[in-house]
Amino acid sequence: MISARLTVDRDFVLSDLDRRVFGAFVEHMGRCVYGGIFEPGHPTADARGFRGDVLELTKELGPTIIRYPGGNFLSGYNWEDGVGPVEQRPVRRDLAWFSTETNRFGTNEFMDWARAAGIEPMLGVNLGTRGPDEARRFLEYCNHAGGSALSDLRRSHGHEAPHDVKFWCLGNEMDGPWQIGAKTAAEYGRAALETAKVMRWVDPTIQLAACGSSHRNMATYGAWEYEVLDHCYDQVDFISLHTYFNNNADSAPEYFGVIELMDAFIKEVAAICDAVGAKRRSRKKIMLSFDEWNVWYKTHKIEHMRKPGWPEAPHLIEEVYNAEDALIVGGALIALMNNADRVKTACIAQLVNVIGPIMTETGGAAWRQTIFHPFALAARHGHGRVLQAKAESPGYAAQSWPEIPYLYATVVDNPADGTTTVFALNRSLSDPMDLDVVLRGLGADRRLVSATEIHHANLKAVNTKEAPNTVAPAANPDVSVDGERLRAKLKPASWNVIVTQASPRA
Ligand code: AHR
Repeated sequence: MISARLTVDRDFVLSDLDRRVFGAFVEHMGRCVYGGIFEPGHPTADARGFRGDVLELTKELGPTIIRYPGGNFLSGYNWEDGVGPVEQRPVRRDLAWFSTETNRFGTNEFMDWARAAGIEPMLGVNLGTRGPDEARRFLEYCNHAGGSALSDLRRSHGHEAPHDVKFWCLGNEMDGPWQIGAKTAAEYGRAALETAKVMRWVDPTIQLAACGSSHRNMATYGAWEYEVLDHCYDQVDFISLHTYFNNNADSAPEYFGVIELMDAFIKEVAAICDAVGAKRRSRKKIMLSFDEWNVWYKTHKIEHMRKPGWPEAPHLIEEVYNAEDALIVGGALIALMNNADRVKTACIAQLVNVIGPIMTETGGAAWRQTIFHPFALAARHGHGRVLQAKAESPGYAAQSWPEIPYLYATVVDNPADGTTTVFALNRSLSDPMDLDVVLRGLGADRRLVSATEIHHANLKAVNTKEAPNTVAPAANPDVSVDGERLRAKLKPASWNVIVTQASPRA
């Protein structure tokens, strides 16, 4: 048995938790759109072609914001191809994924789908093959009420009211050689600056995210963020981070280290942003948009990303997630919450089929992958403000990270309804954890509301169409609350959500 302790105090608050950290991502890639959220003729599809089963699972998953239309797809996309009468839309070859894009689904369909799902849209502008002029025209089409050619074009397409999209990405992974129209930091920094400038002139209420490095292992990582922000610091609000975790060593103790790395990555990028701010003697803080993150390694090979013959909606990177992947996703969500002072938006990539928490059969069933569960629980219970938690736990050393405490946790407190929620991962594979939580000043009348664990004795267990609930949340009976003290026994290799409640505090 491992003993670990977590202490929080009502007066030590890290930050309000921006609910947009529970975002997701829909790209025109593989079967994310076609055969995922959109499948006319599917038995559950509505008149618009939206799959009802996927819509229901999306609502249960609970993403708060959704990024669209890419991804790498964005860098070759003409938004004009995806609006107007469907029969007049062009069929194109998409050079990001070597697929045929029919454009049957475009911006207005996405906006209708996002509204039906109750999710805020996040759009990207193409800075690969296009630039500021296309971006400001697209924004005017989406957000201007009417009385100009582009806003009236949207109205003529059946969308009288403006879409009012608040969050915009300035391109995607522009440092990556795989990107259509990849750029140097100087080229991109200038393009981001000029694009941001004209977009703000069109709609001053928007928030803008510049592209950070495609991932932390890029040779230009760090220098890229610095130089890009040196150009566009005053015009943008966010810089993006992307990461995909792998278990290539096939070792759970090593795999758990990626969570520490994610935390360090966030702090590094925040430091670089602040270095640029300091040089400029600026009071402004750039926030972080972790707008692509997930586990992705079983299908991270070129043969999973490209299929010959320019197919429509091929099966691309349809990663099947197991129990240990769910623990990693749960840990990543804790890392995002523990950095709530800087990370204000984040998107699990992607939503369905393509490295997605939801899996479908074209024409058939839809089910929850293992990683669905930690995300849904965090999105449901992550409300309020993140407290500064002092964690005391034994740990171990690994190649992936030198010091990995068994306990990885965060505490989110919601004074409005009196709930205080502990999210905790036990990274020991062999030992249960005796967790002692001190909730100082948070209410002596506190009671236990629920204790839920994600755990499977077989770390390689997966959910399939035939056995969709192999890995699923279960109640943890070994939890008690006595005033401001919580005691819990956490299973080895388990991710846990413990909700407690006291009287609301104003
Ligand atoms: O999510 C899959 C791809 O990964 C995205 O298109 C790209 O941005 C990233 O490299």
